[in-house]
Amino acid sequence: MNDRKYLPDEEKDRLPDKPWGGRFDASLDKKAEAFLASLPFDQRLAQEDVRGSMAHCRMLIKTGVLSPGEGELILGGLVEIAGELASGRFPFDLSLEDIHMNVEKRLMEKIGSVGGKLHTGRSRNDQVALDMHLYVRKQIIEVDGLLAGLQAVLLELAKKHLGVIIPGYTHLQRAQPVIFSHHLLAYFWMLQRDRERFLDAYRRADLMPLGAGALSGSSFPLDREAVARELHFAAIYENSMDAVSDRDFVLEFLACAALLIMHLSRLSEELILWSSQEFSFIELSDAFTTGSSMMPQKKNPDIPELVRGKAGRVYGNLLALLTVFKGLPLTYNKDMQEDKEPLFDTCDTIKNILEIYPSLLESTKLNLKQIKQAVQHDFSTVTELADYLAANGIPFREAHAIVGQLVRYALDQGKLPAELTRSELAPFHPLLDSDMTPQLLRPQHAVASHRSRGGTAPQAVKEQLSRARRAMHRINLRAEKLFCREFL
Ligand code: ARG
Repeated sequence: MNDRKYLPDEEKDRLPDKPWGGRFDASLDKKAEAFLASLPFDQRLAQEDVRGSMAHCRMLIKTGVLSPGEGELILGGLVEIAGELASGRFPFDLSLEDIHMNVEKRLMEKIGSVGGKLHTGRSRNDQVALDMHLYVRKQIIEVDGLLAGLQAVLLELAKKHLGVIIPGYTHLQRAQPVIFSHHLLAYFWMLQRDRERFLDAYRRADLMPLGAGALSGSSFPLDREAVARELHFAAIYENSMDAVSDRDFVLEFLACAALLIMHLSRLSEELILWSSQEFSFIELSDAFTTGSSMMPQKKNPDIPELVRGKAGRVYGNLLALLTVFKGLPLTYNKDMQEDKEPLFDTCDTIKNILEIYPSLLESTKLNLKQIKQAVQHDFSTVTELADYLAANGIPFREAHAIVGQLVRYALDQGKLPAELTRSELAPFHPLLDSDMTPQLLRPQHAVASHRSRGGTAPQAVKEQLSRARRAMHRINLRAEKLFCREFL
């Protein structure tokens, strides 16, 4: 019944043409076929798929499962397919559901039925897991490189702006002045932790699942270690059921990306605030801003806004995949095909941002006049007076109350604390009745006095800068040792 030879042409079209065709009497409904297909998105795994198949094939030759002649034919076909994929000539066929079946079918078109031997000892379940591992490893390498680039720009800007003092905020209220470089370096360290996290995640992506078969291993004499060596994996999965069920490494990537975009979004928020007319601390370059189609005066920080907005989808992708997995029984379930789009979308999103941000930051101008004006015209140095009194034996709580009254008085007089005369200061405390007091209130003095390690004093920030350089150097070396760059 299933033998096409005996059927008229129009009947043939309706019969199963799938790899599982033997078991089925009728073809898949067209809408169902489109619904099930992952090809529109898993095409991205094409090179990984071919690379994994080559390693599998070489291992099958080595273990005698395939004869050298058969193996050579298959490898030759795979090389041609890799070429077609690279040059965009590969004829994708949606009815073949996914990238794995597309490659296999193409192989058989090229070398005939011997191509069907490639899948010996393998299932799409361990095949897709392998592709995903190769892909995630490559993505981490790329993201890490981009993060290193952004860190380098932050270091460069921090070095350049050591002399600039800006208001520091808590609750978005002026709190204490800081060196601008200090503020920038805070982001450097966030990115440093992001890199550490991605490198940690790499170790879990660096596991080789092939040989797990559908779920229980294989009756063929497979050499899983050989496949792992060829593809430069650090280790293999110890449990075949775990190997085909696990997408923790994808989830970890998405979690690392979620934290990363949270940092990028906070930086974006500051760029948006600082470039507003109310702050006017910076001006984003024309190359990275847009105008309004209606209001000619406007220059909009669209890019930072969009970065802030894209945090939503990157968080969403993590949540989507966590939700997919929460109730899945072992081992492979079709639900798991939903791992791809969130991963691809997050990769694209964060890499796009990381490609833009270094130049966006480098081209941003500081509005030094406005910054100076802001720093010198506020109350953000009065904590220095309280610290000064405390350093001279007055309990800090009392000192705080004394300075609080002074602030109240200055506000009532419509003056800045630095504008109060000695005779105005004297009643608050004899220690303040000194020519020193206005000195203490200077932002330069306030900044310079915060000498504690990791503080904002110029010397402390310079030391921090060199620690940051060394930390970056160390993580660059760690990445270099860890990463397999062969397939980039
Ligand atoms: N397209 C599938 C996926 O991405 C490949 C694995 C299919 N395995 C299966 N047993 N249907 O998950």
